[in-house]
Amino acid sequence: MDSILVKGNGALNGVIPIAGAKNACLTLMPATLLSEEPLTLTNAPRLSDIRTMTQLLQSLGAEVASLQDGLVLALSSHKISNHTADYDIVRKMRASILVLGPMLARDGHAIVSLPGGCAIGARPVDLHLRALEAMGAELDLRDGYIHAKAPGGRLRGAVFAFPFVSVGATENALMAATLAKGTTVLENAAREPEIVDLARCLRRMGAQIEGEGTSTITIQGVDRLGGATHPVVTDRIELGTYMLAPAICGGEVELLGGRIDLVGAFCERLDAAGVNVTETARGLKVSRRNGRVNAVDVVTEPFPGFPTDLQAQMMALLCTADGVSVLEEKIFENRFMHAPELIRMGARIDVHGGHATVTGVDRLRGARVMATDLRASVSLILAAMAAEGETVVSRVYHLDRGYERVEEKLQACGAHIQRIAG
Ligand code: UD1
Repeated sequence: MDSILVKGNGALNGVIPIAGAKNACLTLMPATLLSEEPLTLTNAPRLSDIRTMTQLLQSLGAEVASLQDGLVLALSSHKISNHTADYDIVRKMRASILVLGPMLARDGHAIVSLPGGCAIGARPVDLHLRALEAMGAELDLRDGYIHAKAPGGRLRGAVFAFPFVSVGATENALMAATLAKGTTVLENAAREPEIVDLARCLRRMGAQIEGEGTSTITIQGVDRLGGATHPVVTDRIELGTYMLAPAICGGEVELLGGRIDLVGAFCERLDAAGVNVTETARGLKVSRRNGRVNAVDVVTEPFPGFPTDLQAQMMALLCTADGVSVLEEKIFENRFMHAPELIRMGARIDVHGGHATVTGVDRLRGARVMATDLRASVSLILAAMAAEGETVVSRVYHLDRGYERVEEKLQACGAHIQRIAG
């Protein structure tokens, strides 16, 4: 298993291009199952999760070609030849559940293994299933698989209010509703930019959708969808992650393709911590105002709140802040697994339930640490770049699921970081 060696160093200066969003691409790809005609996605990220979704779609009979070094994905699902999403692929990635709604909507039946993914809390899929049931799906959970059928071969429009916000369940229901008979109203829907991106792509395919980006999405089902070409929205989590690099190390970094509207709540917290973010013609420029950032409190919430996917990275910054910060995790109960690893590097963190209290120290120290999940891995790299001495981050396969060419992007700004094959 590969590991990453980081030597703590000074300021970072340079330019980092931000890729298309992993989480958007992972929901756009299954949208191919809704149509017989081709779907082309541009600005795709080059990540192992995208390769896993490719394998899953291919196992269902879709054609997926990776063009222009992976930046373009040409998908085509003339016919779904297999309606079973197998455990061996689904267990690798929770987003696999997103094939359920499209297959069921198009052909009236689907069998999908219950998913796996990052070990950050229980992460059930009950909301996905309840939304599909509201649209008439008959579901049976047997042997670790969801067996789903639409009576008469077609889902029907329904009004469904999510009891709490779920990104994935909103995506599954939205895709399914595009081909349902009649009108579907999704209330308390997720408002994440990835949902907006999916709705735009589906509209390009001929879907009738209104209200994406608000809590109520209305979908008028159509008989069939066509083909489309769609650019994947910028990855706001990759953006936020690299915005933290100059905040932690000093210097000034420009993030190409960065947009404030994608990271508003995060920028507000950065500003409070003493980090400048300015818009440029090409993206965003980030630098620290003083030598040490201020402690700030952070509460993770659904969009437009502070994203849970940036909590671990923000914690890395706050480990060396001046004062005491409290981070509250409201989305995933078990998402502080990076804390013990940061403590190995000299951080002072006390985790109690859904809260972590971080008392800033002058300097972190390099150590051997282990990546426990995707965002945790990159938080350790950020911390290591500002630490004294060398850090070895092991189990970096998590990192490759969500960050393309992380070493290259950071090296280009002067970071001492290298991958050790193992
Ligand atoms: C997506 C993102 C993930 C991000 C998360 C929250 C993808 C591929 N992943 O995950 O990176 O951290 O949004 O912004 O887009 N829940 C249930 N039942 C369900 C569904 C969810 O109880 O059926 C719970 C989850 O356990 C969690 C909360 O709802 O506590 C929010 O999860 P959700 O928004 O669904 O996250 P994902 O779509 O899995």
